[in-house]
Amino acid sequence: SFRGARALQLTLAVIKPDAVAHPLILEALHQQILENRFIIVQSKDLVWKRKDSEKFYAEHSGRFFYQRLVEFMSSGPMRAYILARKDAVSYWRELMGPTKVYRARHVAPGTLRAQYGLTDTRNTTHGSDSIESAMREIAFFFPEFQAHEWIEREEPFFR
Ligand code: TYD
Ligand code: MG
Repeated sequence: SFRGARALQLTLAVIKPDAVAHPLILEALHQQILENRFIIVQSKDLVWKRKDSEKFYAEHSGRFFYQRLVEFMSSGPMRAYILARKDAVSYWRELMGPTKVYRARHVAPGTLRAQYGLTDTRNTTHGSDSIESAMREIAFFFPEFQAHEWIEREEPFFR
């Protein structure tokens, strides 16, 4: 249907501490969000406590990189965005590129992680991996956000 085809989808995007620490990289990533015609529904700068980091990445607990990841994600300020767009979840994941920076540089050199990532852990950005994750993660970062007011909207007429 017209409505289904043009419906806006929400995703959670995060600029991680490695990228926020470098103003030009932060600016470049923000610019990519705008150039790719996402609507910035909300954004905030925040710093995680270690326990926030552990909770958000609980699905990875026990993996070899978990401690390093948790440490890194609570090491400095981040910027979180609720982004809206047609196919926002997969579109933002595509823009980010593969998780591991060396793989990103080889198979997807134009992506954000390929261009700005430092290591597999310090890989510049996070993006929700499904609509369900997006809803959960948006609530984690923006507990006051009323998602139901957004999910039924159509793409604005001006695009
Ligand atoms: P994952 O959910 O697999 O990747 P993505 O961020 O692309 O959804 O992993 C979460 C984060 O854990 C990832 O962004 C960086 C870190 N990580 C590592 O440090 N080393 C690794 O080998 C992997 C797979 C992830
Ligand atoms: Mg993931």
